[in-house]
Amino acid sequence: MRVLSGIKPTGKLTLGNYIGALKNFAKYQNENEVFIFIADLHALTLPIDPEELRNNIKLITAFYLAAGLDPEKVTIFKQSDVSAHAELNCILQNYLYMGELNRMTQFKEKSQTMDNNAIGLGLFTYPVLMASDILLYEANKVPVGEDQVQHVEITRDLVNRFNNRYGKILVMPEPEIAKVGKRIMSLSEPTKKMSKSENDKGDIFLIDDLSVIRKKIMSAVTDSGSEIKVDIENKPGITNLLTIYAALKDISLEAAELEFKDARYGDFKKAVAETVINIIGPFQERARKVIESGEVDRVLNEGAIKAAKVANITLHKVQKAVGLK
Ligand code: TYM
Repeated sequence: MRVLSGIKPTGKLTLGNYIGALKNFAKYQNENEVFIFIADLHALTLPIDPEELRNNIKLITAFYLAAGLDPEKVTIFKQSDVSAHAELNCILQNYLYMGELNRMTQFKEKSQTMDNNAIGLGLFTYPVLMASDILLYEANKVPVGEDQVQHVEITRDLVNRFNNRYGKILVMPEPEIAKVGKRIMSLSEPTKKMSKSENDKGDIFLIDDLSVIRKKIMSAVTDSGSEIKVDIENKPGITNLLTIYAALKDISLEAAELEFKDARYGDFKKAVAETVINIIGPFQERARKVIESGEVDRVLNEGAIKAAKVANITLHKVQKAVGLK
């Protein structure tokens, strides 16, 4: 089975990125062919400082290794290093329609506050490049958080459309969503997604000092009442903290609920904070060591060569199917 996923190097990665995506990647590496990349071309779809982009690329590569990905088993690479992504994007943009792209939630959210005359085309055609990422590696499974599922679904529509016209050329991917933690919410506004584009006391960033993480969790919004239980409607804050706890402990939400059945809010928050710190502390330490070791460039260079070999085969198939070759 082929597994592929990626992270966009914009802003500061959050605990949401860790729980919804990053922490789940390594479990595939022993039994599957895994491709994990840095979506740096996607990072250009909104304005970003070049130095910040360069640093983010390095940091995410270090995070991949710190999360347990073994570059001997997994192909870790940077999207822009493999030119097939841009080439396939150029072909596939003819097989998705403006009406479909207009309906994408991410596009609607990101463009909402922008001047209509100044929305970059890349932001609009974002799903085409993402489909190219997935299809080049003939990925069967795409582990993502809930907010990216719509992009995998539109990739599936594209596969149907393309294959109906040209025969069985593209491989149908499927989104793979974490059982617990597919959508981690902000700690200060638990009805909103925790997001790296925000910069708020409600977002836990993976580079936050551990003392800051503790403070953010201890001051997380809780709900009225005193019961600790899963109730998204009436207790979104408590439900979110239970989700974070269960996801990091690798237990079910029910098991987490049972553990804190008789606890008070304060003690519960302390336990959540300890759990996050016990995982993120060593994770940060491992990432720091990777950066110091200078391993990042080597991993990305070797990964790009391996990725390009696979990607070019698919690109060639598509070029042939449509009549370019
Ligand atoms: P990105 O960089 O926004 O997010 C990376 C991953 O983190 C997940 N995620 C969350 N999961 C749970 N709770 C949250 N609050 C939360 N916030 C983010 C995202 O769902 C994602 O899995 N377009 C992608 C990058 C990409 C990609 C791809 C992914 C480009 N091409 C091909 C898979 C396959 C993105 O911007 O993710």
